[in-house]
Amino acid sequence: MITRITLNTLRRAPLHRSLSSRASTVLSALDLHSGRELAGVYDGEWSGSGEVLQSVCPTTGEVLARNPDEFVTQATPAELRRALERSREAYNVFRDVPAPKRGEILRQIREALAEKREALGALVSLEMGKIRTEGVGEVQEFIDIADYGVGLSRMMNGRVVASERPGHSILEVPNPLGVVAVLSAFNFPVAVYGWNLALSLAAGNATIWKPAPSTPLCSIAVTKIVSTVLERNGVPGAVAGLVTGGKDVGVTVVDSKLVDMVSFTGSEAVGRQVGQAVQSRFGKVLLELSGNNAAVVMPDADLDMAVPSVFFGAVGTAGQRCTTTRRLYLHSSIVQSFLSRLETLYQSVQPGDPLDPATLLGPLHTRQAMDVYHSAVERLLQSGAEILTGGAAYRDLPKPLDGGNFVMPTIAIPQSVDVTDPIWSTETFAPVLCVGVFDELEQAIEWNNGVPQGLSSSLWTRDIRNVGKWIGPAGSDAGIVNVNVGTSGAEIGAAFGGNKPLALGRESGGDAWKQYVRWSACTLNFSNAAPLAQGVQFSNSA
Ligand code: UN1
Repeated sequence: MITRITLNTLRRAPLHRSLSSRASTVLSALDLHSGRELAGVYDGEWSGSGEVLQSVCPTTGEVLARNPDEFVTQATPAELRRALERSREAYNVFRDVPAPKRGEILRQIREALAEKREALGALVSLEMGKIRTEGVGEVQEFIDIADYGVGLSRMMNGRVVASERPGHSILEVPNPLGVVAVLSAFNFPVAVYGWNLALSLAAGNATIWKPAPSTPLCSIAVTKIVSTVLERNGVPGAVAGLVTGGKDVGVTVVDSKLVDMVSFTGSEAVGRQVGQAVQSRFGKVLLELSGNNAAVVMPDADLDMAVPSVFFGAVGTAGQRCTTTRRLYLHSSIVQSFLSRLETLYQSVQPGDPLDPATLLGPLHTRQAMDVYHSAVERLLQSGAEILTGGAAYRDLPKPLDGGNFVMPTIAIPQSVDVTDPIWSTETFAPVLCVGVFDELEQAIEWNNGVPQGLSSSLWTRDIRNVGKWIGPAGSDAGIVNVNVGTSGAEIGAAFGGNKPLALGRESGGDAWKQYVRWSACTLNFSNAAPLAQGVQFSNSA
């Protein structure tokens, strides 16, 4: 197990010590031992003899591995088919395990995760690029939802409904659903799987995980932790299967009739394909796609709270959360003071090694993400927007950061607010914040609601009347409607998800678990007669 002392040494280690060797310490702490190959498939046994992939560190561009020639092996089509079949078999066994016993297994998973929290958080930083406190926070989010799932395992209550027929009773029973496939995104390579696994496992399902192709190590590390607990409890490992890979693997999983529900988090373009494919075979689908989240700041807002919160919302995770603040609507009376304070914070931020506790800004995850950032800035400039700060990649960074994907957090002031213009209506998965100015709250709400995405939103005010309007029928139409709290960083207790076309369903807390079960309406007759409902008579003896 990695100790705090080891991690502190890691953090202090000079950056010229290659990231790969620092990765080596973290990988060893997570039992990712291998010769040359790291198996990328788990279905009760570890395998993978298909295509290979290497994980690239977004901070330096180096390959993350214990040896430079080490790689992850993905499933062949035959191995993938076997993994899906084993998930089904595992479900057939697991559905009969009483829910509180499933909760006990989840409790042990929670403990095992907590033991590896620091190491796993460090791996998230190395592989995804987010800063260490956020990497560890993400593991904490998995631990939190596991706690939630433990409680849930004793509270997944159905209902008893009054029957209109004498001697009858109607039960609504939540039964296990089957196999749940989780297709997760690179930006939360641990937590989003955790949300799904905790609910799915409590509900009695088998889960098969297809992580983002660029974060295989996080998924292997998590699966090692989870599978050790399952095996120790005599539960088939395929209750929490793993298939790393790219599009082909994803398509096979999504199309498989062995999969009852697909929970997909990712881009709008891929989500559209996933949604259509699953619905065309009448499967269940849960989609978490784009967020294009706005913060609205009223004249009476406490700027000491609002400015740093918007800063975190827009720059945290280098702008790569679904809940990142991408649009900022400021009341005309506070524009100057707000922006000058925000700009000072933006200019104080320095790119750096995500494992260094002083770093607030890590890299973008991939080179392609840098292209998306550059195109967004270009589009803004062409439209005549003013770039208040940022607008370019960092140049001349010291080695080894010069191989990383570092871009400057950007504040742009477009010439006007037109929510149908791609400047405002497109989600750019990078730290680009667009600012608009309003005079009336109603105007800001209209802009907030005017885009196709509806994940998160945030109002800053101390006036209760504004709060009432914001959270009410004519208020924000997003799934997350915050007041004096930023758009990102939701807790697990509430259901997480968006409204409007670019979302379907909920994950995490609230009533989200109800999607992970198969509801059975059971009418039981305890009487000596068999009357029909609605008084219907169907007999020729009358
Ligand atoms: C995501 O960005 O995909 O609210 C999930 C948050 C986190 C989860 C974000 N708890 O920002």
